[in-house]
Amino acid sequence: MIHIGPGGGGYASRMDMTPQRWENTCAYLQEVFGHQDADLADLRNRAIARGLPDIAISPDVGRLLMILTALAGRDGRGATLALELGTLAGYSAIWIARGLAPDGRLVTVEIDGHHADAAQSEFQRADVADRIEIVRSAALDALPVLAERFGPESFDLVFLDAVKAEYPAYLEAARPLLRPGGILLADNALGSSEWWIDDEVGVDPEADRSRVAMDRFNRELASDAGFEAVCVPIRQGLTIGRKKLLS
Ligand SMILES: C[S@@+](CC[C@H](N)C(=O)[O-])C[C@H]1O[C@@H](n2cnc3c(N)ncnc32)[C@H](O)[C@@H]1O
Repeated sequence: MIHIGPGGGGYASRMDMTPQRWENTCAYLQEVFGHQDADLADLRNRAIARGLPDIAISPDVGRLLMILTALAGRDGRGATLALELGTLAGYSAIWIARGLAPDGRLVTVEIDGHHADAAQSEFQRADVADRIEIVRSAALDALPVLAERFGPESFDLVFLDAVKAEYPAYLEAARPLLRPGGILLADNALGSSEWWIDDEVGVDPEADRSRVAMDRFNRELASDAGFEAVCVPIRQGLTIGRKKLLS
């Protein structure tokens, strides 16, 4: 058990964030808020056994997605239409599906057929397959097709978790798709296993591309007069934007 409270730590100041304190904080959040059922907990092992990368969101972020999805619908209901970019084995999609309105649907976009197959079997196992549609496509190709199919202001919630360097383009495409009052979420808003938002430029060009794009995405959303936005520094950062009712 992680003890965070009076008397522990020995830090220079109660407010200093040291690497050790950040590690303790993340462990504390997992311990207290990261509970999940055994099937969802095992999804990660099944995905790794299928050869998928271990890059899904953490359980506490999953719970945050579920809560925000449950708040994203009209009249205090869960979202009736949600969109995810980047499915992997379906871990985050299952959390989102659990927050949907009773008649709600999630469309999730995945470019890799092997990942999409794994997700489809996980959706059946979790009994949410009838509520989730996998679109097997590159996100930037799928977005205009979805705009045509569902129309403007049709989505209650959009969760971005595909190619980090493409987030500014996802924002452009997602803006008209979201209904006023709808929620935009972006994972890796502060970092990933390859980069962090305050890294020096020039160490790794690929990581630089992701970091610079994420910085641009965060700043564009934060200064967009049509949104209220904030970044929650949970795990690798989750940016949350709400499209204003009147803009
Ligand atoms: C970080 S993982 C998604 C994790 C998932 N949201 C979760 O937390 O369970 C990113 C996924 O995006 C997919 N991806 C990569 N490029 C993509 C693209 N251009 N369009 C759609 N999906 C893409 C990858 O194959 C991978 O499955």
